[in-house]
Amino acid sequence: MSHSNRERGILRYDWWSRVNHWLIAFSFVMLVLSGLAIFHPYFWSFTGLFGGPIPTRIIHPFIGVFMAFFFLIMAVRFFKVSLIKRYDIQWVKQIGDVLSNRDERLPPVGKNNAGQKMVYWLMVTSVPLLLISGIVIWQPYFAPAMPRLWLRVAAVVHAYAAFAAIITLIIHIYSAIWVKGSIRAMVQGRVSKAWAKHHHNLWYEEEMEKQRRVEDAAKREETAGQQRQQTP
Ligand code: HEM
Repeated sequence: MSHSNRERGILRYDWWSRVNHWLIAFSFVMLVLSGLAIFHPYFWSFTGLFGGPIPTRIIHPFIGVFMAFFFLIMAVRFFKVSLIKRYDIQWVKQIGDVLSNRDERLPPVGKNNAGQKMVYWLMVTSVPLLLISGIVIWQPYFAPAMPRLWLRVAAVVHAYAAFAAIITLIIHIYSAIWVKGSIRAMVQGRVSKAWAKHHHNLWYEEEMEKQRRVEDAAKREETAGQQRQQTP
């Protein structure tokens, strides 16, 4: 690890994670807007964003497949850091401390805290439900071939899963704004050491350990090189 890297803080999201995440975020918002527009007349005006009611209805499922595809990639890549650990349960028990900013009382956590892991698992549940139910009710491609009961069940599942995903997204965006430095992490990729230490102490320790190992290896390499030069 070079000096400049250390000064720039710790890498939290590489460029592909960031691009992947923002592709999902953008298409997800488009899905919410086009979905609400065709769900209830209250949101009818949103159809203007997509060139009218018919284009809105046509484009919505295609955006859905696009989003689900990129979501699958992100879900696989973020799987390991989203596994629930013992300290996550303690974190949830202290949700009162989380919400009232008494961070110093919280147990140290890894790369993601329990709240972030819940967002992950809620999305991992709702996105496949949305995709499958969406395909069942997709006119004119799949719906005509589906049994009537399937169509009814899928329409209900689609609406409830969308509701769950939208609430999750609102909480996700709220937390991202609330924990200062998070948006920067997902835009620029790096966080300061102080941020990492404060919010994700175990992850910070792991990263420092990695950095130490890299530096030790570099030092060993350097002394070995010097010794080679010195021997005639
Ligand atoms: C539309 C606006 C969105 C904003 C402003 C936003 C913001 C962010 C930010 C700032 C982070 C980094 C948090 C950190 O490093 O501590 C993050 C992470 C993440 N985002 Fe988003 N996001 C959005 C949409 C979405 C959507 C639609 C999904 C999934 C369907 C999603 C899934 C995730 C996941 C799984 C993570 C990693 C775990 C976590 O930090 O929660 N995001 N997001």
